[in-house]
Amino acid sequence: MSAEVWILGGTGRSGRAVAAELVARGVTPVLVGRDAERLARVAERAGGGRTVVAGAVDATAAEIRRQRPAVVINTIGPFLSSATPIARACLAAGSDYIDLANDVAAANALLRLHDEAVAAGRTLVTGAGFGATATESVVVKLCEDRPEPLSVRVDMVPSLAIEAGVMGEALARTLFEGLPGVEGGSRFGGRRYRDGALVAARLGGEALRLTLPDGSQVTTSSMPLGELVAARRASGAPSVVAASSEVPDAPVVRAVLPAALSLLAIGPLREFLIRRMAGLEFKARERPREYSWGHARVRWADGSVREGWLRVGDAQQFTGAVPAEAAFRLLAGTGAAGVSFPAALFGPSLAEACGGEYLIPEPAGKAS
Ligand SMILES: NC(=O)c1ccc[n+]([C@@H]2O[C@H](COP(=O)([O-])OP(=O)(O)OC[C@H]3O[C@@H](n4cnc5c(N)ncnc54)[C@H](OP(=O)(O)O)[C@@H]3O)[C@@H](O)[C@H]2O)c1
Repeated sequence: MSAEVWILGGTGRSGRAVAAELVARGVTPVLVGRDAERLARVAERAGGGRTVVAGAVDATAAEIRRQRPAVVINTIGPFLSSATPIARACLAAGSDYIDLANDVAAANALLRLHDEAVAAGRTLVTGAGFGATATESVVVKLCEDRPEPLSVRVDMVPSLAIEAGVMGEALARTLFEGLPGVEGGSRFGGRRYRDGALVAARLGGEALRLTLPDGSQVTTSSMPLGELVAARRASGAPSVVAASSEVPDAPVVRAVLPAALSLLAIGPLREFLIRRMAGLEFKARERPREYSWGHARVRWADGSVREGWLRVGDAQQFTGAVPAEAAFRLLAGTGAAGVSFPAALFGPSLAEACGGEYLIPEPAGKAS
């Protein structure tokens, strides 16, 4: 067993952000990817560590089994395809595992490996990015030393600078994956928890105008991403809604969104859209607002309500910091065998170590 931290997808946007954050913590990562030249260029800027060329997910899993790194950080989306084979290779090798998945299907697939991870005595962490961790951290903070609440709503409000380049297949496929195999509704429909079970919910529904702590306003609406599962597990609440500011907020778009997404069920059309999106060119853009926010509102059976915020800067930078900090803590031996989301495993301090700051107003009075 080596003491190495491997970053799979090491040349990608997230891989590079994670590498920079590891270097800032005194850990030189090993970059793993498909293109030797690009890997070497990125590695030079990320502490000069070694690189591993592996052509595809199966080849990467074989290298993990062979070389047995201490921690593997997986940034290869869609995670529904990559997470299980890579995590299984980690369990066989005795490595801990972290991924950036932020969709319900991938999170549920990894959670199914819980017993195997416990038996192997290894830690598998999912949702280690802005998506999932920012809101989960607020839920963990609000629920500390409290009984299980009745309901939770989480809202994620990311703000990130965009670098010039193409979207790429990993991100395009992740966006169009939908919720294959997720109970409670259709692949391209919404979800929420009711009475402790996943049930269908309107995509872009439950719209809420939020006033952020800095006084600006955003509208968030229902979007079943990884934070839905993270918030349910962190709180134990039977009723959970996850919402995002990234759902287009024009009423006409919201009205046609469910019908438009149902077209993605047509395989060839979905494949066509993925290929078009993967080649989509981004122009460089400054981040649209100074801060990114995670927000949660929690209600208990006695009528009490608490809400709180996590304020972070650039969401992509936070996405780099969370897996780096989690790896740093795993190297220090503070993991726990099984599958966890980051804040449930490491507590609310994880987000603070990644540059986040909690803003928790005094508890509100009893709800009417
Ligand atoms: N949880 C969160 O908050 C959060 C935030 C940001 C991103 N993400 C997720 O993280 C994933 C990566 O996003 P990104 O923006 O970093 O994408 P990206 O810039 O396209 O990077 C993806 C990386 O994965 C590699 N890759 C893709 N498919 C592969 C395969 N089949 N086998 C081996 N390597 C493969 C790519 O290698 P090549 O360069 O060789 O193609 C590239 O290095 C996406 O799924 C995205 O949704 C999550």
